[in-house]
Amino acid sequence: MEEFVYRGKDLVCESAVLRPVAEKYGTPLYVYSKRSLLDHCRHIERAFEGHEHSTYFAVKANANAELLRLIAREGLGADVVSRGELYLALAAGFRPEKITFSGVGKRDDEIAYALHEKIFAFDVESTEEIEVLNGIAGREGSTARILLRVNLDIEAGSHPYIATSTKESKFGIRRDQALEVFRWAGGLPHVAIGGVHSHIGSQITRVETFQQAARSIVALVRELREAGIEVHEVDFGGGFGVQYRGYVNDPRLPREEPEEVNLSASTLILTTLPLLRETGCRLSIQPGRSVIAHAAVLLVKVLFRKEAGGRTFVVVDGGMNDLIRPSLYNAHHQIVPLELRGTAHEKADVVGPLCESGDFFARERMIPRVERGEYLALMCTGAYGYALSSNYNARPRPAEVLVEGDATRLIRKRETIEALLSD
Ligand code: LLP
Repeated sequence: MEEFVYRGKDLVCESAVLRPVAEKYGTPLYVYSKRSLLDHCRHIERAFEGHEHSTYFAVKANANAELLRLIAREGLGADVVSRGELYLALAAGFRPEKITFSGVGKRDDEIAYALHEKIFAFDVESTEEIEVLNGIAGREGSTARILLRVNLDIEAGSHPYIATSTKESKFGIRRDQALEVFRWAGGLPHVAIGGVHSHIGSQITRVETFQQAARSIVALVRELREAGIEVHEVDFGGGFGVQYRGYVNDPRLPREEPEEVNLSASTLILTTLPLLRETGCRLSIQPGRSVIAHAAVLLVKVLFRKEAGGRTFVVVDGGMNDLIRPSLYNAHHQIVPLELRGTAHEKADVVGPLCESGDFFARERMIPRVERGEYLALMCTGAYGYALSSNYNARPRPAEVLVEGDATRLIRKRETIEALLSD
C-alpha cells in the first residue's frame, strides 16, 4: 500500500523516480500514486467484511476531478458540503443515490440543487435547517431523507480545530435534545427520517474514542426505538486517523516515532463496527483523510539556507498557501529529500517564501542536510493539501500529477499568474 520508498538514493512513487518528475513539471507540485489511492479504497471496503454498507468519500479532503473519478469507479459514494462539491461529485460519476450532503450551513439554492438531483440524504444539524429543508422539499414536490447529526459530546483527542463533537462546537444537535428533535421532525410532511449521523472529529488515532462514540449511538438508537421512532441508518462519519510520523521508514533518515502502533483505518473500522451492528441499522461512513492522505507528496525545491538567532532555516519554494496544515494545526508532515546522499542530519526550520512567520513546514526538526537546488518531499499530503491551498501572496496554486507505474500525467495544470487577474 505504501508507494513512496527509496530505491538506492532516489525517492520513487510506484516505479517513477521523483526528481525528474519535479524537474519536468516544476515545483511546488503535488504527486499522487494511483495504486496507493485504489489500495486505500479497497482496504477500507474490506474492513466491512462483506456486510452491506455505504462508504461516502468526504470530497472536502480532495476534490481533484480525476481523483474523484477513480474513487467513484471503485464504487464508493461521496459526501459533499457545498454546491461546488456536489457538482464535482456528479461530474465525476458518483450516482446521486450514493451522495450525502453534510455541513452546518447549507444555502437554500444548495438544498434545492441537491433535492433536484435526488441525492440519498441530507445530514442535518439544526431544527431551523430541518424546517427550511421541509419547506423547500414541499415546494419542489419531493421528500428529503434526513439523518440527524447528533453531537455526542466526545473529546476526540485531536487538534481543537478538527474536533467537532464537544459540547461547545457548532456541529450537530445536542445529545440531550436528540429525542425531542427526532419526534418533532417525524411529524413534518416533507422530510423522512433515515437515521442518525455523527462525525466526532478528524485524525483520531485511538480505537477507544470511536468505540465510545459507537456505544453512545447504540444507546441513542435504543432510546429512539423505545420512544416509537424508527431509524434505519447510522452514518458514523469519518475521522479515521492516519500515520504521518515516520511514514518513510529508512535507516538513513532521522528516526520518527509513529503516532500509534498498527494505526490504520481498517483497524479502527473493524474494532468499531461490531458495536454499531447492535443497532440493526444499515451502516455507512464518510472517510476523507484515510482514503487519500497517503496517496500524495508535495514536492518543493530548496531556494536558500540561512542562519538566524541560533537556528538554521531551509527556505523552500512551496509555502503555507500550498499546504497550510503545519501552520494551521501544527500538523506534522515528514520531510525527506528526493535524493538521499548520505546520513548527515541537521536540526532546521523548513520554511516557505510567504511573508508570515507562520509560514513553515517544520520547526526545529531533524532532517537530512540539503543544499540550494535540491528537492524535498512533504509526505502524506493527499488529504486537505491542495484542497486547502490558496492564492495568498498572489501565488498561483500548484500543479497536480498522477503516477501510474512509471508513467506520469498532469491532472491539474499549475495556475497561471494571468489567472490571478480578477475581471
Ligand atoms: N464527514 C464530515 C461531516 C466531516 O466534517 C468530515 C471532515 C469528514 C466526514 C471527513 O473526515 P476525515 O475522515 O477526513 O477525518 N482540514 C483538516 C481536517 C478537517 C476535517 C473536516 N471534516 C485537516 O487538514 O486536518
